[in-house]
Order: sequence, then C-alpha cells, then structure tokens
Amino acid sequence: MKRFAVAVDGPAGSGKSTVAKAVAKRLGIIYVDTGAMYRGVAYDCIQKGVDCSDEKAVLLLLEEIHLEIQPTQEGQRIFLENQDITEKIRTQQIGQGASEVAKIQSVRQKLGDIQRAMANQNSVVMDGRDIGTYVLPQAEVKIYMDAGVDERAMRRMGELKAKGEKPDFEVVRKEIIQRDENDMNRQHNPLRKAKDAVYIDTTKMSIEESVDKILTIVQEKL
Ligand code: C5P
Repeated sequence: MKRFAVAVDGPAGSGKSTVAKAVAKRLGIIYVDTGAMYRGVAYDCIQKGVDCSDEKAVLLLLEEIHLEIQPTQEGQRIFLENQDITEKIRTQQIGQGASEVAKIQSVRQKLGDIQRAMANQNSVVMDGRDIGTYVLPQAEVKIYMDAGVDERAMRRMGELKAKGEKPDFEVVRKEIIQRDENDMNRQHNPLRKAKDAVYIDTTKMSIEESVDKILTIVQEKL
C-alpha cells in the first residue's frame, strides 16, 4: 500500500496520544508523539537552567540539542544526548515548559522539519497541535479530538494518581485551561481544527470507541 499519514490534533487531555498510539498499532504503522519533542526541548532547558520563555536562550540551546525519536512497538521513545527521557518528560512542569517553548517560531520550524522527515519515510499516525494544519497539510486522514475541560482534567487526574501523585482537581483543571489558552492563542501555528479534519468529541467515549471510530474513518478515506 502507498505511504499514508493520519494526523491527530487536539487539546491536552483529549485522549489523542492513547488513541493515536492504539490506532497506529492496529494499522501496523509508526506512531509519532510530537508533544514529546516539545517536552524534550523544555526538559533540556529546565536541566540547564534556561527559562523556557526566553527566546534567545532557547534558540542557543536549540543549536546544540541532540534529540532522537525511536518508534517502538509500545509507541515511541525519546532520547536527549543518548539518554532515555521518555518517562522523565511526563510532569506538569515540563508540560507547561513545552507550551512555552512551543510559542517560539524557530522551535516549531526545527521540530516540524523532523516530523515531516519521519512522515516522508514511513506511514504514520502523528499526534500534536498543528499536524493537520502545518506539519502534514496533505495528510490523507485528519482528525481533531476534543473533550470537555472537566473530563480532560479528570483523565489527567487519573494519570497522575496512577503515578502515585496526589493531584488537586482545581489545580489540574486550571493547568489545562492555561495550556489551552497558550496553545490556541499563540502567534505561530496555534491549535486549530484543519478545515478538512473530522471532529470527534470524546467526552462520553471510551478509548476503544474512539479507536474504532478513527479506524472506520481511515478505512473510508484510504
Ligand atoms: O501533547 P503534549 O501535551 O505532550 O504537548 C505538550 C505541549 O507541546 C503542548 O501543550 C503544546 O504547547 C506543545 N505542542 C505543540 N505542537 C505540537 C505538539 C505539542 O505546540 N505539535
């Protein structure tokens, strides 16, 4: 079969990573989590004491950065200077930092180029905020996943509890609203539904239902 791409965009907590990963597995193609790359840049900044919103300093760091993405059966692993940081980047602090570095155009360009190169070599399910609108505007299938803010906060609470943390609902909810605000209102490639994307509201849907829905759309489009 010809190479193809499934672009999955949506806000934090919409379920896109879990669902996109499962869709890729069912299709037997690579899953690319682009948020992990922004998190990787933020992680590097925080490690080196660089303010994630200091554009000049972030750009200097970007010149030297060595991020490597490795697709695996379980999803993807991400390495910074050969160190596996896949789990280390899953914190609230790094999520907020990622949302700051993601405002910087050169960061978006550099990461967008890496993402496009991956899709040029493989069939992919790629998730993020600007995949259907900017990174892969020619993607054969485009999905925009959404869910109500309370439901997204509840899902995030579940993830944090599973990691042994004791999150506060209001704090988590505020963090999600703040991230939406950053992602939807930034100047460069804000989070938007591509005109030709299929909108899926997952508020009342299970993971399996969302996966099946996307697989049906893929079958119809390909
Ligand atoms: O998807 P995840 O929550 O891991 O992404 C972290 C942050 O990275 C997002 O809040 C967003 O600001 C940024 N991001 C982006 N464009 C993408 C993927 C992520 O701006 N394609």
